[in-house]
Amino acid sequence: MLEDMKGLKRTHYCGEVDETLLGQEVVIMGWVQHRRDHGGLVFIDLRDRTGLLQTVFNPQEDELTHQKSHDVRSEYVLALKGVVRRRPDEMVNPKMTTGQVEVFIRELRVLNVAQTPPFQVEDHADVNENVRLKYRYIDLRRPVVMKNFLLRHHVAKLTRDYFDQHGFMEVETPVLTKSTPEGARDYLVPSRVSQGLFYALPQSPQLFKQILMVGGIDRYCQIVKCFRDEDLRADRQPEFTQVDLEMSFVEQDDVMDMLEGYIAGVFRETLDIDLPRPFQRLTYDESMRRYGNDRPDLRYDLEIVDISTVLAKSEAKVFAEALGRGGCIRAINAPGAATFSRKQLDDMVAFAISMGAKGLAWIKITAEGWQGPLVKFLTEEEKEGMAKALSAKAGDVIFFGADTVQVVATVLGHVRARLAQELGLIKEGEFRLTWVTDFPMFEYDAEAKRWAAMHHPFTSPRDEDLDILESDPGQVRAKAYDLVLNGSEIGGGSIRIHRPDVQAKVFAALGIEAEEAREKFGFLLDALAYGAPPHGGCAFGLDRLVMILAGATSLRDVIAFPKTQKATCPLTEAPGPVDPRQLLELGLRIEAKKV
Ligand code: AMO
Ligand code: AMP
Repeated sequence: MLEDMKGLKRTHYCGEVDETLLGQEVVIMGWVQHRRDHGGLVFIDLRDRTGLLQTVFNPQEDELTHQKSHDVRSEYVLALKGVVRRRPDEMVNPKMTTGQVEVFIRELRVLNVAQTPPFQVEDHADVNENVRLKYRYIDLRRPVVMKNFLLRHHVAKLTRDYFDQHGFMEVETPVLTKSTPEGARDYLVPSRVSQGLFYALPQSPQLFKQILMVGGIDRYCQIVKCFRDEDLRADRQPEFTQVDLEMSFVEQDDVMDMLEGYIAGVFRETLDIDLPRPFQRLTYDESMRRYGNDRPDLRYDLEIVDISTVLAKSEAKVFAEALGRGGCIRAINAPGAATFSRKQLDDMVAFAISMGAKGLAWIKITAEGWQGPLVKFLTEEEKEGMAKALSAKAGDVIFFGADTVQVVATVLGHVRARLAQELGLIKEGEFRLTWVTDFPMFEYDAEAKRWAAMHHPFTSPRDEDLDILESDPGQVRAKAYDLVLNGSEIGGGSIRIHRPDVQAKVFAALGIEAEEAREKFGFLLDALAYGAPPHGGCAFGLDRLVMILAGATSLRDVIAFPKTQKATCPLTEAPGPVDPRQLLELGLRIEAKKV
């Protein structure tokens, strides 16, 4: 029989009941974790969002309540009133924060019953993720899951406080809007009133925040949902949250300084870690050369070293051919990897090939000498030169890539990450941040045979590169910066173009005709013509930041109702079919279903 709460008010959360309350009466409310029958005594562990508390039902305390406790099952919702006592010494549980005490219950009310849950509400329950997401409300009751959402709340609060203290204003930007070019596909929403026309959900509030600067808002910040229809991975969701901000009358260093203060504050307040400031800075070119990508994981060294000059005269065909075609030879020294089995080495070669390499030469340095497929081609001088360039010693393995600069960088970048895994070089709980700056303004899209914006087309070129915008777009560098944490891009931003003439030149370099620019971004171009201040900003991926702070490996662990790899929601089963009448109203017809 279900009861109500009338006359009972919760006095404490379960996790708050400790020795300071001995002898006091408390009222707690929550879910049943376990019920154990010990002859005359019944024990129920009650759970709420703060933790577990042991309660005791003794027939001598209250006969009827003791009787009722027998009918209670897992996940029933209870209100309990009783007195806090110290546990007998042998019953103290040092693993529980409330392990010194228990509550002797005088009144029990069953507020609701529950079916047997599809999985145990326990931290270490081994449950299929789809089942967890379908029953997210049960999953959330697990302390390991709950803790991530408390952390996320904390980070969001720190974010608002920090930017408020620095004079930022929160302004909401529209969700039903026009396409913002951030490089992904748009989610479209059909208009009923204007049939045949569509809104796009924002990939970011980029254009609005720039317009807010023209409007004199001066400093803007918003915690905002963004939508991108792209292939999903563990660190990508179709809807995700940005900490989005923009500042007027600033240069690149001013924005970076403000952001360092923010990130340092978040680490201090959530993990009690004082990050060294200023954060490290790498240019894009340096990052590509030394780490093979623009989001280097700096928790380990394994630097990529160019040894083209050392092997300039090498007789090995793979090396001579690559150099002959204007490519390069680069290598990574993996300390201690001489213990790798032949299979491990073969797997590494296959991995490199799957990443686009033609092969991956390796040399094992042992006490007996150098071993590997290409050793016979190496002169003593070359060996010496390589050992010196790579600081290689007995017990190490050197991995080589010989190809175009781009292929070698990409392949060795992946090999580097995999070596770090296999050599166990990644220390749990370590955080390494770096800025990556001076990105190229444009990248060549070989398929479309034209230049595309690497960041977005509103990013300002460096002043010294303005003159070569038309003549040599590949050499133009942008006032753009990314913040990288443990190999993950957690934020990116830039100084924007505030002059209409520069914006027109960039559109021209991108092959965007004046007419097309007008149609797509006319409203921004108009705004720039009415007194736009110099401005710049950045957006952080809040989900990614919280994921890393939480020590999680998937964004799904820090998003309450995330989408699966196929962009579906296991809880609501979205996306779903709609009523044909709704389609009719929108003037839409489903042509054919994709199978
Ligand atoms: P950008 O496209 O780099 O920049 O996005 C900013 C940050 O958002 C996060 N992010 C994502 N997180 C989860 N799932 C996704 N699909 C996803 N896509 C991006 C990343 C990224 O660093 N308007 C610019 C910012 C600016 O210039 O101010 C922008 O959106 O952590
Ligand atoms: P091959 O001459 O193709 O038999 O290759 C000899 C060795 O060089 C093998 O260990 C290959 O994995 C490696 N190799 C082949 N092509 C390349 C390349 N482009 N870069 C680095 N190593 C390569």
